[in-house]
Amino acid sequence: MTTTFPPGPAIPRIVQTAIYLKSRAALLKLAARRHGDTFTLHLAAPYAENLVVFTRPEHIREIFAGDPADLHAGEGNRVLAQILGEHSLLITDEDEHARARRLLMPAFVGSSLRGYRALVDDIAKTHVDRWVPGTTVHTLDRMNELTLDVIMQVVFGMADADRRAALVPRLREVVNVSPIIMFGWKYPFLANRGMWKRFRATQSAIDELLYREIAERRAQPGLDARDDVLSRLLAAGSGENPADAPLSDVELRDQLITLLLAGHETTASALSWTCHELAANPEIQAEARRAAHDGDEKYLEAILKEAMRLHTVIAGTGRKLTRDLTIGGYDLPAGTVIATSIILAHQRPEAFPDAYTFRPDRFLDGSVEPNTWLPFGGGVRRCIGAGFSLMEGTAVLREILTRYRLALPEGKTGEATRIRNITHVPAHGAPVVVTADATVRV
Ligand code: HEM
Repeated sequence: MTTTFPPGPAIPRIVQTAIYLKSRAALLKLAARRHGDTFTLHLAAPYAENLVVFTRPEHIREIFAGDPADLHAGEGNRVLAQILGEHSLLITDEDEHARARRLLMPAFVGSSLRGYRALVDDIAKTHVDRWVPGTTVHTLDRMNELTLDVIMQVVFGMADADRRAALVPRLREVVNVSPIIMFGWKYPFLANRGMWKRFRATQSAIDELLYREIAERRAQPGLDARDDVLSRLLAAGSGENPADAPLSDVELRDQLITLLLAGHETTASALSWTCHELAANPEIQAEARRAAHDGDEKYLEAILKEAMRLHTVIAGTGRKLTRDLTIGGYDLPAGTVIATSIILAHQRPEAFPDAYTFRPDRFLDGSVEPNTWLPFGGGVRRCIGAGFSLMEGTAVLREILTRYRLALPEGKTGEATRIRNITHVPAHGAPVVVTADATVRV
């Protein structure tokens, strides 16, 4: 196959990579303006040499509907194997991925989500209770604490407060793993030195706590009566079909750490952006408070979805071609990495009129077309926690909005974006001033 990649910026590779690292949205916008809806970025390791970026809904549909044997998502995440483990849903492809997905899915369907709701409500209340009226709340930090608690209690099902307290600082260390540590994993001689040795010790301590939790839970009678993700995963798999044998302890550990890493800061970022937008848009906030009081969760969900559109949490999704393939009319060779740009898809004016305005109503009037709103990716790799994060986000918003009014701190108007690992977060933590809502019903 003779390959001509779609055109792209002619900036030197190393410069493109530096901009991609720090100001991804700016580079993507620049490339789209110059080269149109499909273009190629030329990047240095650990990124793809030729990253072909797609933004048109029909191309995105083609990619998400593609055969998972042709389009590997797990391969591109291999750098995370040191943390997530070899069995992680994020790392695996094809049969192993399909099996894990089948076994995990029941824990994330609507009926299971309804079972988690009461505990999520309780956790949201405990955290929001600590907010002091009249003060500035750094919502990203507060939401990170809250979503970490949700992972430990609702996902891991960890009832023992001491064990949770032992886990929190260690999990934070893993979530905030520095790029230098990740870079060092390529050099085995570093494993027993300095920060790499300390990181491994942290991982071992987490594993010990998780394996203890798994062992105790396996020994407990009446798993069916428990409402947490781990208990559901322990019960998953009929064992009749060898391909669907129940998850082993190691597989469970890998999936738990994956759910922690994929589900914690992403949801916290989406929630803190939502608080920021509500503080910046008092009329929408008034409507949101009405919805919270009336239990109109459709409106609260629309707010969350619009915040996720306007402030994309994950920039895009990646797939590596395992064979030569034609996508969007472009002939691409095996080994090419293609991306769907969530950031650019969310700013297309024909899909989202007034694309830079916060307008939650668009998610209620049926105007959002398929393959245009993609915060959770798509196809067989679509985020398994999408429903979970919307349920959690709605519960948290309802708790906040039935109790407080939110305003931007004096002199603040907007909020910049910063990339933390792979998550886009509010650069200054999305601070909001909270006051008690005088209309609260008792
Ligand atoms: C606002 C919150 C979240 C956002 C924006 C988000 C976004 C994403 C995206 C973009 C992907 C990649 C999809 C693709 O490649 O097509 C993904 C995958 C994944 N997410 Fe989420 N996520 C969120 C919350 C969660 C939560 C709460 C959990 C779990 C409790 C979770 C677990 C996962 C897992 C396990 C995968 C890998 C799925 C697979 O490869 O089969 N995520 N997420």
